[in-house]
Order: sequence, then C-alpha cells, then structure tokens
Amino acid sequence: MLPEKMEKALNEQINAEMYSSYLYLSMESYFQSIGLAGFASWMRMQAQEEMFHAMKIYDFVYERGGRVILAAIDQPPAEWKSALDVFENVLSHEQKVTGLINDLVNLALDERDHATNIFLQWFVTEQVEEEAGVGSVLDKLKLVGDDTSGLFVLEQELGKRVFTPPAT
Ligand code: FEO
Repeated sequence: MLPEKMEKALNEQINAEMYSSYLYLSMESYFQSIGLAGFASWMRMQAQEEMFHAMKIYDFVYERGGRVILAAIDQPPAEWKSALDVFENVLSHEQKVTGLINDLVNLALDERDHATNIFLQWFVTEQVEEEAGVGSVLDKLKLVGDDTSGLFVLEQELGKRVFTPPAT
C-alpha cells in the first residue's frame, strides 16, 4: 500500500512531468516560429519523453493501489530570446526536476517505502542523463555563438533525435 504522503507527492510529480512536457512543446513551437525545424524536432522528442515519465509514475501509483488525481497544468512561457536562452532554461528546469526527484527519494526513505525508493532510482539515473544531454547541447551552442553555419550544423544534428520509450 502506498503511504498517503507518498501518493500525494507522486501525484504532484505527475503534474510536474506533464508541465515539463508542456514546456518543451512550447519550446518546440517557439523553434518552429523562428525556422529552426531541427531544434523544434528535438524539443518534440523531449516533450514525448516527459509524457513517458509522467505515465510511468501514473502506472506505478495504480500498481501500488493508489489513486491518481490530475491537477491543472501551469501555462508555460511562449517566447525566448534565442536558442541559447532556451537551452539555458531547459538546463535550469532539469536541475529543478532533479531536486524534486531527490525530495521524493528522501520522502520514500522517511516513510520506509522501499518499493517507491527502488522505483525512483530509475528517475535518479534518468536525471543524470537528462542534465548531461542538455548540458552537451548548451556547450555546443556556446561554442557556435553567432556563427550561423555552426547553428545550421547543430540544427541538422538535433533533428536526428528520435524517442524510443525504454523497456519497462
Ligand atoms: Fe522528466 Fe526531464 O525530467
């Protein structure tokens, strides 16, 4: 049985993951609006990945006999200054999400909820990969600076990203 506090916190995390998906979809739309289709495609993959995260928690809550209550999703921003600005925001957002996952792990330990603790380890590892992946794009964007041909090369590279849901 899922402890009540844990159930509430996991419900909040479902909302946070759905917000992440919404935020990245908004970033996709921004990139479409400035003609960077490869960047837009990367963001769509990112949005799908976040929805996968949300559903992974959603399914776990039910598996443990809990109840999912969906809450309103906050409106994400719609405008950014540049691709660099977007990715700086993505990195700080992912760092915030890492903090939320760490808080969930701490709660699972406090509640002596070992099943949820084990379940959350997947997210702990995932956040390391997420921050590294975003950090790598950000590093490249900083190197490219105002060089439009460099941006075009990056545009091609990011456009190749595909999202394959990991086996659960
Ligand atoms: Fe679901 Fe990007 O963390």
